[in-house]
Parts: sequence; C-alpha cells; structure tokens
Amino acid sequence: MARVIGGVGTTHVPSIGKAIADRKQNDPYWKPFFDGFHAVHKWLASEKPDVAVVFSNDHGLNFFLDKMPTFAIGAANEYRNEDEGWGIPVSRAAKGNAALSWHIINEVVGEGFDLTMCQEMLVDHAVTIPLQLMWPNGDWPVIVPVSINTVQHPLPSMARCYELGRSVGRAIACYPENVKVMVIGTGGLSHQLDGKRAGFINKDFDKLCMDQLVADPESLTRYTIPQVVELAGAQGVEFLNWMAMRGALTGTVSELHRNYHIPISNTAAATVLFENKPRVERRKAA
Ligand SMILES: [Fe+2]
Repeated sequence: MARVIGGVGTTHVPSIGKAIADRKQNDPYWKPFFDGFHAVHKWLASEKPDVAVVFSNDHGLNFFLDKMPTFAIGAANEYRNEDEGWGIPVSRAAKGNAALSWHIINEVVGEGFDLTMCQEMLVDHAVTIPLQLMWPNGDWPVIVPVSINTVQHPLPSMARCYELGRSVGRAIACYPENVKVMVIGTGGLSHQLDGKRAGFINKDFDKLCMDQLVADPESLTRYTIPQVVELAGAQGVEFLNWMAMRGALTGTVSELHRNYHIPISNTAAATVLFENKPRVERRKAA
C-alpha cells in the first residue's frame, strides 16, 4: 500500500527562481534561506519518496480571476511550466502519475470535495520553485499537483483546506501500489505585496502557525479568512496550502527541521520538514 512519509512547507517567491538561475545560493542575501534546505536534502536522500503531492495556488498561469476553481487537481502524466513574466527561466516539465491522481480524485470526491479535474494542467513557480529547492540536482519525483484558490475571494476556509488534506491523506493510504508519498505545501508565510500594508510581515503569527502545525493544527482552523488576511497579509493566505499539507499527514507527526528568514522579497521565508509515522493500531485485550 502507499504511505505518506512526511511533508515539507516552503515559500515559493518567484525571485528564488532567478537566484537559482543566477547561482546566488551563497550570496549573503540568499545564503540564510538556501541553507535552510540542507536538512531537507538529507532527509530526501535517505527517504527517497516516489511521489510528491503538491498543494499550491496558481498565479494566473493556469487559472485566472474569471475562472477560478476553489480546488483543482491534475490528472496527467506530465505538467508543463510556461513563461510567467517574472524573468525566470521556464522550468522543464514535471512527470505526473495519472493513475494515482484518479485514485485520489475518486476517493476525495467520494468524501464530498468537489475537485475540478484537470487532464491538462500547467504548473507555475508555486510548484517548480519548491521542486528546484528540494531537488537541486533535478531528480524530481512524480508529482500530483493540487491547486487551492488563495487569490479570488471568497477563499476556502482554513478548516476546509485542512480537511481536504486529510481526505487526500486517507486516499493515499488506500492506494494499492507500494509507493512512498510525501506532501508539500507552498507559499507564505506572512506577506503583503500591495496596498497600504505592502511589506507587512508578522513574525509572531508565523511562529504561532509553525508551532501549531505540529502541536495542534486544528487550533488554527478557528481563524477566519479575514483574520488570516489581517494577521498574515493579503498574500499570507497562501498558508492555506500548508494547512492542506499538514492535513494529509494523518499519522504521528514530528518536526524534523525548521528555517525562518526575513525577508525574501518582502516575504517571511519559511521552510519546515515534518515526519509522518503511521499510527500503530493497538489490539484489544482478549
Ligand atoms: Fe505566491
């Protein structure tokens, strides 16, 4: 059976892609951020996941404000990137696993989540930059992209995204193939790109979110979307992707690594690595 071995949360700021292209990983501005991935690289080298389910938000490459699914999932064997206009190189395509995608779709729709099913899907920097950060040698696993609307209000709630993740986690757990799956949530943490609060960062709230993701993720579901916008900034709502990632870790979760660096392009850049151990079912006494 398939199993979810762990999860990673990471920022996906477009300028990271430019820094990678220009090989600036050791520049003083970038080093504290890129160094935060060494522990992730070590874990990936040891665990070797076959598949990464990536929760992220599309920034207009695939969906735009006129047609914005709340939740969408790729069901293809390849996901291409295209020029997004950020001045970063177009990434190579990521491989998909349509059979696993359809299994997840069947299970998750069966549980009441009305996903938009995409047999063709472009992936933007919210997917390709995390892949480049986590597998800098280009040895990417197969991906299943799940897109969550964090752009066009009304957005899904923190609770709904967490529950989506739990449903995806349950779906993976009953997939009959013997594959190691990891989950990734991209975006955030606190940032606001425009308006009077442009440049807003909330270190205290970011820390609370990272702490509670491990200890008590359900406690975060009490925040409404307007509260998240107020506390994390207009684009800080990308944390919804992290909530889905955490939801998919349905076993016993422990934090193996955390890095938090301010700022990268007006964003609080964060990286977390979680291990997910299956819960041992205890036999009832005879
Ligand atoms: Fe973003």
